[in-house]
Amino acid sequence: PVLVVDFGAQYAQLIARRVREAGVYSEIVPHTATAADIQAKNPVGIILSGGPSSVYEEGAPRLDPGVFDLGVPTLGICYGFQIMAQTLGGEVAATGLREYGATNAVTSTDSVLLDGIPAEQNVWMSHGDSVAKAPEGFTVNASTAGAPVAAFSNDERKFYGVQWHPEVKHSAHGQQVIENFLHRAAGLANDWNSGNVIAEQVERIRAQVGNARVLSALSGGVDSAVSTALVHKAVGDQLVAVFVDHGLLRKGEREQVEKDYVASTGVRLVTVDARQQFLDALAGVTDPETKRKIIGREFIRSFEAVQRQLVDEAKEAGEPIKFLVQGTLYPDVVESGGGAGTANIKSHHNVGGLPEDMQFELVEPLRTLFKDEVRQIGRDLGLPEVIVARQPFPGPGLGIRIIGEVTQDRLDLLRDADAIAREELTAAGLDNEIWQCPVVLLADVRSVGVQGDGRTYGHPIVLRPVSSEDAMTADWSRLPYDVLSKISNRITNEVRDVNRVVLDVTSKPPGTIEWE
Ligand code: XMP
Repeated sequence: PVLVVDFGAQYAQLIARRVREAGVYSEIVPHTATAADIQAKNPVGIILSGGPSSVYEEGAPRLDPGVFDLGVPTLGICYGFQIMAQTLGGEVAATGLREYGATNAVTSTDSVLLDGIPAEQNVWMSHGDSVAKAPEGFTVNASTAGAPVAAFSNDERKFYGVQWHPEVKHSAHGQQVIENFLHRAAGLANDWNSGNVIAEQVERIRAQVGNARVLSALSGGVDSAVSTALVHKAVGDQLVAVFVDHGLLRKGEREQVEKDYVASTGVRLVTVDARQQFLDALAGVTDPETKRKIIGREFIRSFEAVQRQLVDEAKEAGEPIKFLVQGTLYPDVVESGGGAGTANIKSHHNVGGLPEDMQFELVEPLRTLFKDEVRQIGRDLGLPEVIVARQPFPGPGLGIRIIGEVTQDRLDLLRDADAIAREELTAAGLDNEIWQCPVVLLADVRSVGVQGDGRTYGHPIVLRPVSSEDAMTADWSRLPYDVLSKISNRITNEVRDVNRVVLDVTSKPPGTIEWE
């Protein structure tokens, strides 16, 4: 792989994605990795990421200098560029002059790294210190007003560096810089794509699972759908997918899993109808955390029941059920400490929680992938767009979108309102623009209205459309008034007991995306 050394902030993930977009497999390693750790991964290229620190700060992240003796083509970006300059004998000046945002860089044309890029280009900068003097043996390739050495190269050692951030879209020719490094300087082919990933994962899954039977919990979400399809491609009927209908699903979801999913994959699906069980367990409960705990617990119970049934069946058939498929993604792995070694069952969110003491070995075919890559693999595996392009939906479902007690009536009402909102957002072509749009029923609030020729005393529905990159922070989406108006008209006309539609205009923070 190409290794992206992480010096903090969010830059490393972005770089890793850009490298993959260039058709080269990449992985992220922490800056604390030693030269030996790095060598053990057989890197074909190294990229040192940016970071929030100054190389002069006490405790600023460092890099084992031995990394520069591995003979691996290396590109330094921003902080990584300065680390490179400092370690190899150049000078980094703590100028105190900050350069931030779009900046004009003047480039020379005779370098591999900047080949094909106009002599003047807009680049995205964010730095305080600057490289004042390139190390010996390096040529300066670009400069800006605030950074006399904004790019350098040493073709002999295949070392390159840029002060700006080629990985961000605001750098006009950023991807070209990354591709020049990968394809030209390091000589790497553009041959990593979803087709190869599928072939490789299928091999791996077969090797891991052998003849044993495999269980997979489908949630209706993208990750569990794609991981299940991938394992099914690898081991066919050894896989059984389990879908728990907890009655807190949106309109058409169960049918979608039962029809579209099975039709496109042919997977054996066991659906558990646990609707009454969940309703009974939630009766009288209004506290959000209590609801979440109850839903998690009941989910586990349903799953265990199917598990027991299938285990008994498997004993008769002679093959044990030893494996459980999880849709863990690469960001989960990176965020939980770098991906080396043991599988931690932290991805409970895929299925709403699994028993701690479950004696399963995990199969995690998406462990090295980003969400957009997972979607592409889903498409290549023939999953329909309605599944692959799904927006996030919380495991506890509509249970945490009814503010107040969860009852059958209220669920039906909210399901109708939600279906209308989704229909109209899709019709307006806004699905890609918004991250998700929770539709919330204020079941414990009543408001006066007039409908037909009578007074009504109904409930408000809240629309919560948000835009976000990762759900950690979010802003409310500025939806066109005519779309909002249409949703409002339809909901108040078509959904009984709802006489008011309101728009949530809170960012996150301070609000969360969901209301509970
Ligand atoms: P909040 O409300 O915390 O939500 O801003 C952030 C994102 O997570 C989703 N969400 C959940 N997903 N199980 C899930 O699988 C949950 O319990 C859960 N709670 C919130 C939410 O829809 C949003 O995308």
